[in-house]
Amino acid sequence: MRLIHTANDLRAALAGQTGTAFVPTMGNLHPGHVSLVELARQYGQPVVASIFVNPLQFGVGEDFERYPRTLAADCEKLATAGCDLVFAPDVTEIYPVPQTFTVQPPDDLASDLCGAFRPGHFSGVATVVLKLLNLVQPRVAVFGKKDFQQLLVIRQLVRQFNLPVEIVAGDTLREADGLAMSSRNGYLGPSERIEAARLQGALAVIVAAVRAGERDFEALCSTASRHLKMAGWRVDYVALRDAATLQSPTPDSARLVVLGAAWLGSTRLIDNIDFALGNLA
Ligand code: PAJ
Repeated sequence: MRLIHTANDLRAALAGQTGTAFVPTMGNLHPGHVSLVELARQYGQPVVASIFVNPLQFGVGEDFERYPRTLAADCEKLATAGCDLVFAPDVTEIYPVPQTFTVQPPDDLASDLCGAFRPGHFSGVATVVLKLLNLVQPRVAVFGKKDFQQLLVIRQLVRQFNLPVEIVAGDTLREADGLAMSSRNGYLGPSERIEAARLQGALAVIVAAVRAGERDFEALCSTASRHLKMAGWRVDYVALRDAATLQSPTPDSARLVVLGAAWLGSTRLIDNIDFALGNLA
């Protein structure tokens, strides 16, 4: 496996490749990331992963500085997973000049859910993903459903800018107690770590209720939110949406997704469960 730090070296290493499968990450890799690399291997070769903590997608006061940087350990995991090339640029390599051109995702997507609490976040994500796709020029790029709203932003970015890449979605890997794996789980103290599984549990209760016929979505989400608050969480949102559009469910919605974002102490966790319902009517 090759480790490359500059755009020039990357272009030289990938010259002539037409079947590249790409997994963008911010590093501090866990088995969820590794599963995306393994999925990428089924779609193309060479498999390229990027490790870049993108300042553009972090807001003022967020965790850009303290985000864990663990390049050596990450490279070991990637090599074992069958990755061929790691692109780990520094900030000046990706942003040699101030990034005054940016991608602005539509407001209905970018200012909703996580976007409402992290202004500019999805613009930062879309901008860096566009740059990374231009640098790597993959045939396929793999993203996790863990970041469900991000996945939709990227699908629309690719579609609306006619980017010649297929987007593949990987399932969310979880710890034994159901907690979605995340680089940010490392911020949790021991008692917070035990508590953290409650977010997934609260979302699963909503899924079960909807499957059992409950249709008062607002009530389900506010009950879940109240339970989390009673257990000490600060809740950004719990919402049930159409999985294809992230808009409110309609009678035609075939797949739904329940999404939540909430804080335990100074750690913000997100999770979601998407599920088929047939027809809501
Ligand atoms: P990062 O948080 O490092 O995640 C990289 C990829 O791993 C994303 O596609 C994410 O959805 C996926 N992922 C995270 N946790 C997962 C889990 N438990 N199971 C499966 N996949 C999981 O998302 C980003 O980085 C950045 O926003 C990025 C797209 C790299 C742009 O900077």
